[in-house]
Amino acid sequence: MLLYIHIPFCDSKCSYCAFNSYVDKFSQREHYMQALSVQLDFELKRFGVNPSCLIETVFIGGGTPSTVDPSLYTEIFNTIRPFLAPNAEITSEANPNSATFQWLEGMYALGVNRISFGVQSFNDEKLKTLGRAHNTSHALNAIRNAQKIGFKHLSVDLIYGVSGDTKALLQNDITQAFSLPIDHISLYSLTIEEHTAFEKTPEIAQEELVLTQWLFEKIASQGFEHYEISNFGKSKSAHNLGYWEGKNYIGLGAGAVGFLDNCRFYPSVDIDYYIEHPLEISEEPLDKKALLSEKLFLGFRSCIGVDEAILSKNQLKTAKLLCEENMLKHHDGRYFNPNFLLADEIALRVEGY
Ligand SMILES: C[S@@+](CC[C@H](N)C(=O)[O-])C[C@H]1O[C@@H](n2cnc3c(N)ncnc32)[C@H](O)[C@@H]1O
Ligand code: SF4
Repeated sequence: MLLYIHIPFCDSKCSYCAFNSYVDKFSQREHYMQALSVQLDFELKRFGVNPSCLIETVFIGGGTPSTVDPSLYTEIFNTIRPFLAPNAEITSEANPNSATFQWLEGMYALGVNRISFGVQSFNDEKLKTLGRAHNTSHALNAIRNAQKIGFKHLSVDLIYGVSGDTKALLQNDITQAFSLPIDHISLYSLTIEEHTAFEKTPEIAQEELVLTQWLFEKIASQGFEHYEISNFGKSKSAHNLGYWEGKNYIGLGAGAVGFLDNCRFYPSVDIDYYIEHPLEISEEPLDKKALLSEKLFLGFRSCIGVDEAILSKNQLKTAKLLCEENMLKHHDGRYFNPNFLLADEIALRVEGY
């Protein structure tokens, strides 16, 4: 069982970001955290969490979890503590400008053992282009502080494929990243989303395949395994792996998504409505076709691969053909995709609809 907690507050809105977050709702923080606790109590029962069905991973994401004081997370941690698996991975996202020493220390004391920093780049000009509220020195300080406090697992998010990216700039981004005590990198190609500032200037997204492949190789050459299309690590994120393996997850908060067996759960996206009605959660049953499609897309994008037992006769035929074309590998009863950049194409071919 996985637990995702959504914190929908941000200091400012980045030009590329379509995540559910608000810059003008800080006065609602206390009420929001109370509503999360109400939903948590309900979900623990619905998902059957008990001493023999424990929470393996927790991921606090956003929005910006570092805009909320650790004291406001206490109630949630008190509730989940008895149900945490031994050595549960507990991650929080953090923005370099709001992840102060005190905030990091407070989260560590609560039991958070992994921080994922939204660094995006170590180039101040690029950070301005992306509309970020932090600069390079904020990022360096925050990550070094996290190490001093005792966090063993640190990750950085980087964005590439931005107009103005050069090999030298990207080389600097990864050199700086590797100078820090991190064991994981999430590397995202800039995508233009609806209702973002970049929607009006889509030409800002410029991914060059040659640069992408070069970046992937550079990161992997440092011993960071490329284990999903956007993720590299010496230590993999158990929470990410859990999603791709199709495990059940509780989704707490405005705009979060939960998943139990064959059903998705959606609490309200609107923060004010969520605060008033945290248990008004819509349900979407998934049919066999949708579940299989998800398994194919997630499996071929990651090191999880696809179990041959879930494929129909025709799908198996295509998978075998792809093996002959060296586009898939087969071992231990599973099919694996060696080139994540081709993941969607392969999934569509195997799916065959
Ligand atoms: C949930 S977001 C936010 C985490 C945190 N608030 C932050 O910004 O530092 C996680 C990551 O998704 C990535 N991301 C969000 N929107 C993106 C986009 N349109 N294109 C590429 N990466 C994006 C960013 O790297 C971001 O750090
Ligand atoms: S990228 Fe992070 S900080 Fe920026 S708006 Fe999105 S959630 Fe907020």
